[in-house]
Amino acid sequence: MEIQPLHADFGARITGFDLSVPFDGPRRRALLDAIDRWSFLCFPDQAPGDERHLAFTREIGEAEPNHLPKGEEGRIDYFGTIGNVQEDGTALGNDHRKTIFLTGNNMWHTDASFKPVPAFVSINAVYEVPSEGGETQFVSARAAYDRLDAARRAEVDPLIVVHDYVFSRSKVSPDAVSPALAKSLPPVRQRFVRRNPSNGKKNLFMGSHAREIEGWSEQSSRTLIDGLIEEATAEANILTHRWKAGELVIWDNRCLLHRGLGYDADRHRRLMRQTRVRGVGPTLEEAF
Ligand SMILES: [Fe+2]
Repeated sequence: MEIQPLHADFGARITGFDLSVPFDGPRRRALLDAIDRWSFLCFPDQAPGDERHLAFTREIGEAEPNHLPKGEEGRIDYFGTIGNVQEDGTALGNDHRKTIFLTGNNMWHTDASFKPVPAFVSINAVYEVPSEGGETQFVSARAAYDRLDAARRAEVDPLIVVHDYVFSRSKVSPDAVSPALAKSLPPVRQRFVRRNPSNGKKNLFMGSHAREIEGWSEQSSRTLIDGLIEEATAEANILTHRWKAGELVIWDNRCLLHRGLGYDADRHRRLMRQTRVRGVGPTLEEAF
């Protein structure tokens, strides 16, 4: 595995590691160690097709069902499509309901933090990218925690935060979430500070789904959460990733925030396929 760092805080471009070959024990360990160390791994020229993509998702851990088909139709699908290209090859424009819904991802967030067991990693295989726009930005919420002084760490360490999918999607439009989907995703309590079980490093756990700090007023909650997101996402902390067709990216949702920058869906096609690996348990049960 050859590693080229991408940002002072996190992120690596990885070559010399073939994802098409099933992981034996040592290769799986090396990959998990790299996730713990770098949080964001980009593998150029490896988009593997859905079959191998899902297979190695399962070699890393438990594949997480996409919440949309599950909540809306009770259907299990381990893939999500990021972008406007549909199964039949056509592309949706800016005004389509699905395109508008996906703009919810343009707020800083961490994937599936609204689930009782939030996602461990997201895995994006890239097939079509816009020639302009469509980048995704990432920041390390571990580095953000490290930048807090001792008093502020002591303040946030014990907090519990409520993550709520209906809350975050209502910012896109008031009726963005169907009643069935809302019922499948009730608000969940999460630790506000998480600790990596391998290296002991702590990080903030927040983003667009974070509705309120348990026991705090709405206003105090917003001041704290929005203030910390703003600090974490200062320009110098951002890794802006310009997707390239053929690459595969794995990122650690336990400790990164990300957001899409948007693109003109009337003019461009975008297709990424995403799976996620489920976390090991509720954050409140994690060792701290
Ligand atoms: Fe996301």
